Amino acid sequence: MNIIATKTKDEMASVAAGIFATQIAEKPDSVLGLATGETPREMYGELIKLYEAGAISFKDIVSFNLDEYIGLAPEHDQSYRYYMNDALFNHIDIDKAHTHVPDGMADDLEAEGRAYDDQIRDAGGIDMQLLGIGVNGHIAFNEPGTDFASGTHPVDLTPSTIAVNSQYFATPQEMPTTALTMGLASIMGAKKIVLIASGPSKAEILDEALFGPVTPEVPASILQQHPDVTVIADEEALRVIHEKDRL
Ligand code: F6R
Repeated sequence: MNIIATKTKDEMASVAAGIFATQIAEKPDSVLGLATGETPREMYGELIKLYEAGAISFKDIVSFNLDEYIGLAPEHDQSYRYYMNDALFNHIDIDKAHTHVPDGMADDLEAEGRAYDDQIRDAGGIDMQLLGIGVNGHIAFNEPGTDFASGTHPVDLTPSTIAVNSQYFATPQEMPTTALTMGLASIMGAKKIVLIASGPSKAEILDEALFGPVTPEVPASILQQHPDVTVIADEEALRVIHEKDRL
């Protein structure tokens, strides 16, 4: 595992954008796994700047997002489809027909999950997967206790995740308590993984995930078993790791 320490979140964003830009330049038809949340916003901003500068094109890129809330229509401003359009897709030359977000409105969510993994496989697998990390160690919405062998599946969100994410909804009660998420096996199938982390709330869990025991109780710990993981984290997120002299 390669850990890149940055001073600030802005620096984390530009280093991560650089890694994705290199991937796109080397393989213009890359299949990218994308994440939502607060952590990647600036990184997407950097990718938009690189696109506007003519350094990269997304015209042949295919993307798969990690997750979506169950019951939120794509037009809902807290849906992850809306987030992706707003944060990235509306500003670049990607063909939206080549962008995938799990369908949280599907009637048969289990079947939708299986079909999503089939689509990833049919696209040739994910070349580079972006991840954030939840304060409880989740990656995508794979909450503590998730089977390492899981494919894309519906989940009940934990009180911790609901507490953190409900702040983005007009009223906390509006936040769905279930989601459709790529599974841990779906994520581990990516050829390369880039995990970004920023801020003090991630310091404890980042240390546990990267240096603690590999256990379903800390879903992100499974990344220790992946052959090509790059972690980019700012000073605040690396506080515990630095205190314990792990780097
Ligand atoms: C987002 C996702 C989540 C987030 C995690 C961190 O698609 O799957 O695992 O990456 O909850 O979220 P932020 O970046 O908001 O701290």
